[in-house]
Amino acid sequence: MKHPSVPLPRIGMRVIKTAVAVMVSYALFLPFGLTYREELGGVLGQMGPLYACIACIICTQSSLGQTFYQGISRLIGVLVGGALGTATLLLGPALEHFWLKTIVLGMVCVAGVWLCLLIKRPTACGMACILPCVILITGVTGVTRYYYAVARIIETIVGLLVALAVNAALPDHRPESERGGMDMTVEVKNSTRKLCVIGDPVGHSKSPLIQNTMIKALGLDYVYLCQPVPRGQCKAWLDCAKFADYAGFNATMPHKEELVPLMDELDEDARLIGAVNTVCIRDGKAYGYNTDGEGFLRSLADEGIDPAGKRVMVLGAGGASKAVCLKLAQAGAEVVVCNRTLDKAQTICNHDPDHLRPTGFTPEELAREAEQCDLLVNCTSLGMEGASGQFADFSFLDSLAKSAPVVDLIYAPAETELLRQARKRGHRTANGLGLLVNQAVLSLEYFTGTAIDAADMKKRIADVL
Ligand code: ATR
Repeated sequence: MKHPSVPLPRIGMRVIKTAVAVMVSYALFLPFGLTYREELGGVLGQMGPLYACIACIICTQSSLGQTFYQGISRLIGVLVGGALGTATLLLGPALEHFWLKTIVLGMVCVAGVWLCLLIKRPTACGMACILPCVILITGVTGVTRYYYAVARIIETIVGLLVALAVNAALPDHRPESERGGMDMTVEVKNSTRKLCVIGDPVGHSKSPLIQNTMIKALGLDYVYLCQPVPRGQCKAWLDCAKFADYAGFNATMPHKEELVPLMDELDEDARLIGAVNTVCIRDGKAYGYNTDGEGFLRSLADEGIDPAGKRVMVLGAGGASKAVCLKLAQAGAEVVVCNRTLDKAQTICNHDPDHLRPTGFTPEELAREAEQCDLLVNCTSLGMEGASGQFADFSFLDSLAKSAPVVDLIYAPAETELLRQARKRGHRTANGLGLLVNQAVLSLEYFTGTAIDAADMKKRIADVL
């Protein structure tokens, strides 16, 4: 009888990089002795390779960008944990009391987790909690505890630098020849969690391609499907998704507003924008998020654009425009919303009249507004592949200051006629790929609780689109 062969786990570049980084960081601590030697005195006496090795193991990822992101999170965790642990030492001899120490340990853990979540670094939580525990539980006493805390921080920084250097020196885990050839095939196991996009229609959606590309690249145990849900059927779908144990789903037209009252909890942006595009299902409860607005702000940040204090001209007043306008206003921009149907622009502006002002879409109105704006964002469907309609004329671009970047939310074609005209006139331009990727990355982060390197994903997604 032939026995099925058991596939051996693959030893890839990430494993090799981790091993090299651990060896290098271990060797670096040779001059300080590889165990803690209190006779050296001060911080040096507490120095050892352990935290550097741990940093290498945790931080080393398949790409330099991901390693950097993990490394920074870990460093933040160590700094938060070090500060909290050191602060608790100020309680002095009171800490010798068993129950007081127990309660303090619990409280610093809560504080560590809370601080890391506050700055949106969930992967920093571990270190933020472990370090105070280590500082309080270790056998060292008196002032040596402070040296102990500083030594752990230094070791982590060394480990992080080694992980980055090793990542930069060794090649990516995929050979160059394979890059660009990614597809959306993911392995489905019994343990695989389900995700999907719902819409009506939804067959054209790029979300499955984008999300499965990311899932595959990150080695996550998820699969992302495409689920048509007729208009008005969101409640029935939500019950199905809960029953079928979906981890979550994204929503596109026309469900984003209908989902709002169906959520058990709404995040701040979903409430602000009045639309949900990401739903996470946890313990039978539905948590609604909106990643469009934040995804847009992140895509601006990627281009080095800070909207605070800027005068922004937004073209269009549909769903995408609403998310963009409200987040721009929240970020401190002064926004003029130009739309063919003035009522729709007015409705958006009613949400924040201090920052938002409506106007029409005639060439004269566009030229007048362009004269006084620092950033132009197109949220209309004009110029989109497969959609009819084009700007009647681009003369309003002549009124725009050369320093004003022009951003189009459309990503297909990669360069719309608006962007081409703007580029010809010397403006910096950006298409909608940045928003597409950033909002998808944010969604997947909510679904999986994993921090994702958006820059790396942008390259991969651009390859498959
Ligand atoms: P989305 O959800 O992607 O924002 P939408 O809600 O259909 O899509 O919005 C499309 C936007 O493009 C609207 O602002 C629309 O203007 P109206 O509100 O006047 O319909 C704008 N748009 C579409 N075709 C247009 C055209 N030919 N001229 C000017 N604006 C147009």
